[in-house]
Amino acid sequence: MKILSIETSCDETSISILECSGGLKKPSFKILANNLNSQIEIHAPFGGVFPALAKREHIKNLPILLEQTLKDSNLNKKKNQIDLIAVTYGPGLEPALWTGIVFAKELALKWNIPIIPVNHMEGHMLSAFGKSDGKFSIPKVEFPALSLLVSGGHTELVLAKEWMKYKILGETLDDAAGEAFDKVARMLELPYPGGPEISRLAEEARKSSKNLGRGVLKSIAQADEPSIANFQQKIMCGFQNTTNEIFNCIKLPRPMIHSKNFDFSFSGLKTAVLYLIRDLKKENPNILENIDVKKAIALEFENAVIETLVHKTKKAMEKYDIQTLIVAGGVSANKHLYNEIKKIISSKQKLLFPQKGLSTDNSIMIGITGYFRFLKNKGKIIKASSIKAQGGLKL
Ligand code: KG4
Ligand code: ZN
Repeated sequence: MKILSIETSCDETSISILECSGGLKKPSFKILANNLNSQIEIHAPFGGVFPALAKREHIKNLPILLEQTLKDSNLNKKKNQIDLIAVTYGPGLEPALWTGIVFAKELALKWNIPIIPVNHMEGHMLSAFGKSDGKFSIPKVEFPALSLLVSGGHTELVLAKEWMKYKILGETLDDAAGEAFDKVARMLELPYPGGPEISRLAEEARKSSKNLGRGVLKSIAQADEPSIANFQQKIMCGFQNTTNEIFNCIKLPRPMIHSKNFDFSFSGLKTAVLYLIRDLKKENPNILENIDVKKAIALEFENAVIETLVHKTKKAMEKYDIQTLIVAGGVSANKHLYNEIKKIISSKQKLLFPQKGLSTDNSIMIGITGYFRFLKNKGKIIKASSIKAQGGLKL
């Protein structure tokens, strides 16, 4: 069957057409067309996604993307050959979600085909099995499976003992990991979205520390009394110091890392960065003009987030005897997260990360999930009028 999938939950408008076959036993996909329009440049001046603008852009882009997608797919234009429309109905920004849903309903009516509503987070989970073009099949998955879903709006550890049956083991009590990356980037005067920027600076800092061979990470963990005063003193010395010396003075908290549950919290970490920068600016208002300072903060912040995510994931894997680990959502594009997660995987366990281009929001993952949900519903048609945007939808 051919599924046209639509994603508009945040600042990406995306439409794809997937040829799906094989049923739940051997689901296989062929990407007939895949188009995505990112609104990053439009939201960047606001330092985050501006919902009214996102809605306006989705409304403008959806018809353009549809035309392009139908053209790319080489399907017969005169006769509709699409069997089903999959559309994200939550979680996300409600005004943005509604644009996709209304568009899907109009198309469904015009083509006289059904709609399957898709949970965006389930989409992220299944994105780990996808490809952005060509063909792919979903291999047999060994359960129990654990998913670490890390995006701009969510941070959750999800247990699955079988396909499509989920239990949320833990989630963030405040900010999501991606949100913390974005907010800290803003404090560091870096462009939106902050994740890739922080990660780039942290990576440079990590490399330079390795080149100098001084085991910065170790020294951060073991520093006797790493303190702001110490740091400020060095800065006031006119910055004769190496980036490494700066690193050694910064220590950020790893919130809830030793709590007994699987929940996360990133707002305290974000506030710690805020206070750190505030204190540094007291001594030198232009402190952020020094790239080494930005790199040092980016490195320690990234280490704090990733250490927390990996520690809790490891604990959950041990407790539930996990056979397959999926890491997905925008933050799964983070290289350091990948490197650290790899270290906790044994040779018997399977690790899945989405391919490049499928970590952040896309409609391929919505098409894959739409097919699974359609099969699970045994083809039962959902009344289009009952499909509503649900900003706070849970798995
Ligand atoms: O999944 P996604 O595209 O949108 C939501 O569903 O929220 O995730 C976007 C988030 C942003 O917060 C962005 O900063 C973060 O993913 N992100 C990263 C990286 N690339 C994107 N965070 C850390 N490191 C990255 N390389
Ligand atoms: Zn997302």
